[in-house]
Amino acid sequence: SKFDLVVLNGVVVTASDTSSFDIGIKDGKIHTLAPSFTPEDIGDAQVVDAEGGMVMPGGVDAHVHLCQDQKTGPLGLGGQCADDFETGSRSAVCGGTTTIIAFAKQSRDEEDRSLLKVVEAYSARAEETGSYIDYAFHIIIVRDDKDVLQTELPVLVKKWGITSCKLFMTYKTMQLQDYQLLDVMLAALDNSITTMIHAENGDMITWLAEKLESKGMLAPYYHALSRPPSVEGEAANRAIVLAELIESPILFVHVGSSASANIIRAAQTRGLPVFAETCPQYLNLTWEDLKRFHSPDCFENSKMICSPPPGPDSSDQDALYLGLHNGTFTVFSSDHCPYKYNDPHGKMAGMLEHGPSMHRASCEGISLPELAKSKTGSFKLVPNGIPGVETRLPLLFTRGVTAGRITPQKFVELTSTNPAKLYGLYPQKGALLPGSDADIVIWYPEGGLTPFKLTNEHLHHNVDYTPYEGMEFANWPRYTLSRGQVVWANGKLLGTPRDGRYLKRGPNQLGKGVAHFKKDPRTVATWVRE
Ligand code: URP
Ligand code: ZN
Ligand code: ZN
Ligand code: ZN
Repeated sequence: SKFDLVVLNGVVVTASDTSSFDIGIKDGKIHTLAPSFTPEDIGDAQVVDAEGGMVMPGGVDAHVHLCQDQKTGPLGLGGQCADDFETGSRSAVCGGTTTIIAFAKQSRDEEDRSLLKVVEAYSARAEETGSYIDYAFHIIIVRDDKDVLQTELPVLVKKWGITSCKLFMTYKTMQLQDYQLLDVMLAALDNSITTMIHAENGDMITWLAEKLESKGMLAPYYHALSRPPSVEGEAANRAIVLAELIESPILFVHVGSSASANIIRAAQTRGLPVFAETCPQYLNLTWEDLKRFHSPDCFENSKMICSPPPGPDSSDQDALYLGLHNGTFTVFSSDHCPYKYNDPHGKMAGMLEHGPSMHRASCEGISLPELAKSKTGSFKLVPNGIPGVETRLPLLFTRGVTAGRITPQKFVELTSTNPAKLYGLYPQKGALLPGSDADIVIWYPEGGLTPFKLTNEHLHHNVDYTPYEGMEFANWPRYTLSRGQVVWANGKLLGTPRDGRYLKRGPNQLGKGVAHFKKDPRTVATWVRE
């Protein structure tokens, strides 16, 4: 027949439009959109009836951490990502996401100098388990070897289609000094690689953490006090100044505070090509959540430690919602960073303080909850990050779309279309155009689901908790299609970890913004290359 599968009677919602269409899928791609198919059109194609539903492009989650280990994790000590490509992609697809971009990470070790070797090793990890959905890589660069940047960045782009790198302004084992940021950003720019920045002032954090530690303020809550909003704001401002100096676009990941959002907004208003991402934790958590469990000092609160931390109170959440609405934020990603709680290489690494015997005790399974209640350990040693790849879309649908804070089109733009454009995957991903991959998620906004309270048992990640335990969800995808195949339907996972393919990406399609800069021979960007 004409099509392999048809999606009938739904309201198709894209980043720009909302209208009733039937969709015909052939060979994994969108083939035809028409107001209404005839029985001849449908033939013996598989039918998905989307009556009463909203049909959207599948989610693109451009910020997930999978398979990062002790060496390649954010702290460089402790911390083993609980999800690999199989479990992480499984969790993603069950929440309506059909594309993920994960981080291959260089380390400071001499043997990790080669970015190509780092990527090859990471790719092998993905191939080992397979992925339920299509996946791509970013590269995290923590060294500024000129030879490596010069010879390998072009190969990363051409051979691997890796067109984005992440640089850190904090963490001892990852932080680049300003002169190094300039070097790597310039090299990235000359290869049409988008620079993503983790903007926190590492020196302020070190100073604050030492002060807190000297006063015995070690509970998880003090993680937030070691990183007040000005820590993020200062770094964002400095990164913008550096980027402007060399006329480079720049992309801020996981923006957590209005302090930073306001600085970004001001730079955008000046016409600079500054892009930004925010994440579910910043719209749904506050400093208070770091005191949520048992007692304010209980170590279980380490479940909520991520960096940057969410804002002190809900006023930051309101400001970030405004930023989603008004365009300050280009994309909405999960920053899924899966550490188990009850695991010496997860959040419990924060108990290492007590020396080798405590570490052995944890590894040998002596009651960790008992240890947790002892109020000891230090926030400084807790791996940073929280899981959320599966809850990203349902949370934003419930609290953003259903609550009337953003339109359904804006939802698609932030969670699918813009990440696809920003990371060079459009219109293969992020669109429902003829020729696009048939990645589709179908929601039922009106009475499609009895609101329910989430528990971790609902989720498909390999993490032993969710930060959103007990939260009420009014919506969840009923169907998800990945390249034309129904992989999630009515709460059942139908796909396999052999379905996903590696995606080579092109450059940022949202513009380099160089037009905003004066072409003047006296500018740094001009003479520095002569
Ligand atoms: O706390 C966080 N966000 N951990 C993940 C690593 C990162 O910096 O994105
Ligand atoms: Zn980061
Ligand atoms: Zn991250
Ligand atoms: Zn151990």
